[in-house]
Amino acid sequence: MKDIKDLTANEAAAELQHIAAEMAKADIAYYQDDNPYLTDAEYDSLKLRNQQIEKRFPELVRADSPSKRVGAAVKNGFGKVPHRFPMLSLGDVFSLEEVDDFANSVKRFLNTSNEIEFMAEPKIDGLSFSARYENGQFVQGATRGDGTTGEDITANLLTIRQLPQTLPADAPEVLEVRGEVYMAKADFFALNQKYETEHKKTFANPRNAAAGSLRQLDSKITAERNLSLFAYTWGEVSKRCWDSQAEFFECLKHWGFPINPLNKLCKNLKEIDENFAHLMEIRAELPYDIDGIVYKVNSIALQERLGFLTRTPRWAIAHKFPAERAITKINAIRIQVGRTGALTPVADLEPVNVGGVIVSHATLHNEDEIKRKDIRVGDYVFVQRAGDVIPQVVEVLKEKRTADSQEFQFPTLCPECGAHAIREEDEAVRRCTGGLTCPAQAIERLKHFVSKEAFDIDGLGSKIIEQFYNEGILQTPTDIFSLGKRNGNQGPIDDLFAPIDTQALHLERREGWGKKSVENLFKAINDRRNISLPRFIYALGIRQVGAATARLIAKNYGSFTNFMTDMQNNDTEKLLAIDGIGEAMAKDIVEFFKEDHNTKTINQLLNEVKVEDFVDTADYNSPLAGKTVVFTGTLEQMTRAEAKAKALSLGAKVAGSVSAHTDYVIMGTDAGSKAQKAKDLGVKILSEAEFLELIR
Ligand code: IVH
Repeated sequence: MKDIKDLTANEAAAELQHIAAEMAKADIAYYQDDNPYLTDAEYDSLKLRNQQIEKRFPELVRADSPSKRVGAAVKNGFGKVPHRFPMLSLGDVFSLEEVDDFANSVKRFLNTSNEIEFMAEPKIDGLSFSARYENGQFVQGATRGDGTTGEDITANLLTIRQLPQTLPADAPEVLEVRGEVYMAKADFFALNQKYETEHKKTFANPRNAAAGSLRQLDSKITAERNLSLFAYTWGEVSKRCWDSQAEFFECLKHWGFPINPLNKLCKNLKEIDENFAHLMEIRAELPYDIDGIVYKVNSIALQERLGFLTRTPRWAIAHKFPAERAITKINAIRIQVGRTGALTPVADLEPVNVGGVIVSHATLHNEDEIKRKDIRVGDYVFVQRAGDVIPQVVEVLKEKRTADSQEFQFPTLCPECGAHAIREEDEAVRRCTGGLTCPAQAIERLKHFVSKEAFDIDGLGSKIIEQFYNEGILQTPTDIFSLGKRNGNQGPIDDLFAPIDTQALHLERREGWGKKSVENLFKAINDRRNISLPRFIYALGIRQVGAATARLIAKNYGSFTNFMTDMQNNDTEKLLAIDGIGEAMAKDIVEFFKEDHNTKTINQLLNEVKVEDFVDTADYNSPLAGKTVVFTGTLEQMTRAEAKAKALSLGAKVAGSVSAHTDYVIMGTDAGSKAQKAKDLGVKILSEAEFLELIR
């Protein structure tokens, strides 16, 4: 990148245009989609570069310059809340020297040589909110939005226990308390872990998790997430009864708001420096992420004298911490295979100290990210810990690259099992097609195989599957059906000198097991040696083929042989004629059958189980016949699986998402965005009771 001083006016204009476009795109991804594509540091460095170019070429400042924007536009779907007092932003500085400069400029502005007191507050990396109280009652909550108009999040704020709903009698009649909603690191990790096991998209960092949770149209979802908050400033207030930021904190405490215990009144620059050093030291151990320190002139009288610049107060500044960065070498690029078969590239690094933590791996996200940054084995790179969570590679030091450096070739075969790894056109991830036999996926696949809507084998819970897999007792679904034989039920095999593979398992001797539970397990397994066609197809775990699709396939093909023959002949005509199966799904299905190990597994399974031909028992005279229904939320009278099965047996089609083609949305409790979408599209919504009434 060129030095600012060497830029021509034309180059500067072009770069400003580029930065404005990049940052606008990044803002939408960050604020509206809660799904950022630039790291905070990348964003900050663009912002800084923009600021520096504008400083040198003030005549080139664009109308849409990022320096003129405060935050995000309002997300569609929320009510709008105009802020009577705008929610402003803060100017950023990036070094302690600049904080000193700021403190000195405050002194100059006030024309004083006296020391000025500053309140130093850890800058919480969350989402700002405004809570309005009238006559001591919480009446409205809002996000910052673009600073002038926010989103109405009253219902969502009500779910955060730390926010007082009523205030003591001495609180001002009208009071807007503002602060930051955040997710503690521990809650963030727990949420992501839960989402991972549920195959849901995880959050990149606690800030996004907080934003994604607070900006939920359905406040029940917000209530399920553990959000916390700190209060730190005010908006409209009928009578201000404090004269300093420190006194305001005392009031907040008295009214019942959580305030950050690390807020510190600093009497001079020395105390500011010491406080900074202290926070840097404890930063990594704090239970929440901070991305800097906010300094505010403590005295309100002085704040009023200092006033505002266009969008930021002259009496406050944010010192943003540098993202913790270091330079190191990429020793190797490894591909990890996730439980769903997603191939994720990981860089093995020459271990390096990044802000007190030794980092030896970094995520490279996906294939495109490697291409975009042109990351290669042997490269020297900047790594950084983003939000103290997962180390990332920010930039390659291309000048340090050797002549023999080679572009990284992303594998097209799964490194775990050798199966083809394919990438859908509109997807960022490449996935292993190894399915049932890929060891990386095996455990999850085994769990899927025995799950309720598949083989439904009682006694093979998640824990047991994991134990059995790790001990080599179960590797593939077929192994389930030889458990009985291997357990020694064939005769008295209790010979310690027998070769390992013929030695009986003796499950009944395991801790927590007994004769009875082993018998029950074998009975449950044997009961499934006859399996219905939809269950069998679903159990195979073909990508995109859920229980409803499996049933459609079963209904249209009648027997497994018919289905498998067509798939192996690459004949998708019948498949594509099925309403509800599109090109993409058909492709996944055909790919699955192209893999030898999948067909091998299927053939082994077919030696153990008998797949019943499909008998269509659906009632095509029922009121649901031919209707497309979607279930959402938790049902009380039956499980989701039962409800789906019931609807299918009545000739309905069960879809996973709401569209204009949906006839009914059946809404349980805690329904999410699907219910909202149904309302928006005018689709008929039925309660569980109404649904039961309809099908009775
Ligand atoms: S004061 C006019 N205090 O940082 C003063 N902001 O860059 C407005 N933030 O939008 C904000 N901790 O989301 C203030 N102790 C703190 C803060 C804080 C975090 C965030 C807030 C604000 C942004 C400004």
